[in-house]
Amino acid sequence: MSTFLKPKLSNPEHPRCEFPALDQQVHGKPLVYLDNAATTQKPRSVLGAMQSYYEHDNANVHRGVHALSQRATEAFDESRRVLQRFVNAASEKEIIFTKGCTEAINLVAHSWGRTELKPGDRILLSHMEHHANIVPWQIAAEMTGAEIHPIPITDEGEIDLGAFERLLDERVKLVGVKHVCNALGTINPVAKMIEMAHQVGAKALVDGAQATAHIPVDVRDLDVDFYTISGHKLYGPTGVGALYAKEDLLERMPPYQSGGDMIRTVTFEKTTYNDLPNKFEAGTPNMAGAIGLAAAADFLRGQGWDEIENNEQRVLSYATDEIGSVPGVRIIGTAKHKAAIVSFVMEGVHPHDIGTIVDGEGVAIRTGHHCCMPLMQRLGIPATARASFAIYNSKSDVDSLVSALQKVREILT
Ligand code: ALA
Repeated sequence: MSTFLKPKLSNPEHPRCEFPALDQQVHGKPLVYLDNAATTQKPRSVLGAMQSYYEHDNANVHRGVHALSQRATEAFDESRRVLQRFVNAASEKEIIFTKGCTEAINLVAHSWGRTELKPGDRILLSHMEHHANIVPWQIAAEMTGAEIHPIPITDEGEIDLGAFERLLDERVKLVGVKHVCNALGTINPVAKMIEMAHQVGAKALVDGAQATAHIPVDVRDLDVDFYTISGHKLYGPTGVGALYAKEDLLERMPPYQSGGDMIRTVTFEKTTYNDLPNKFEAGTPNMAGAIGLAAAADFLRGQGWDEIENNEQRVLSYATDEIGSVPGVRIIGTAKHKAAIVSFVMEGVHPHDIGTIVDGEGVAIRTGHHCCMPLMQRLGIPATARASFAIYNSKSDVDSLVSALQKVREILT
């Protein structure tokens, strides 16, 4: 294993110290970063791994006999094995590097969907899905004649499992659901939903964008068919992620994109394809991104899941109480099982105005529809303000947000 893949924690007791971007002032106030569902900040070990790769080992992979290419190939292949262990996949062939979750879902919709779906087949997608897990299926449905049916959710923002059960029959070929809802924080009962999907012979795709940084994921335990991983929501770089898929499915699926590295032989008459995982990785891959993503996965494993979950649940509980106590505020998304995301609206104030005023106090939150317009329509609101927490956030960050919200009230209500 290359030395630069190992996380180097200068102060493992205080994860915040590992993230240089957090150490700054914004509008003259110390930065309080609560927009982690949009993207997380990056620890030194990730930044160091990528810098070290570019400074010492940068070369194209799977192509060169020279030393740098060998080292780059070794580091890239090892990154795949790190991710395999991170989600407990049975084989490294089941990890396909992509640009992120969006590309991973597009890969499944276009490769699996366009070959497996036929007129009258049904795709069930939860009503809280991100656009990235709706639009690729709409395109696949248009091309194949399949139909999309939303899985109803409750007013609290939970999957309505009874309604889901009623939708399941032999026409259903795919169930798509996010593991953790980026807009509301709901942790969905994906193990149960996968089991129910399998009972009618459907495949299950779980969008793990918001999950892998916050809860341990074991794809074999879940028995999931497709699971998507985002690099930048996992303390890794942007522009990289991965698709986990069961090997037998990947073997049967045709290539999604084509070009170099995904082929075995090419003649003008006929092309044969490479083995897994290369069959799905056309062109020069994002080597530095994969190395950074592996460093991020190692960083998280180094922190310990109990520690991560306990801290984030403490912050969630405190934030729910404190934000919910601000006069005029209503929390949107009150599911029983939640990750550390608090979405809210304030009576008489547009969420964008909340975001702008709290930014003036150094507090970064996201406002808008969170790429979930069907969810907002279901809940009867145009947008929310959203505080999303991560490994480096504490109760004092919640206090900063709450005093900034008091300022919003003073100015606008
Ligand atoms: N999907 C990302 C978010 O929730 C961008 O903010």
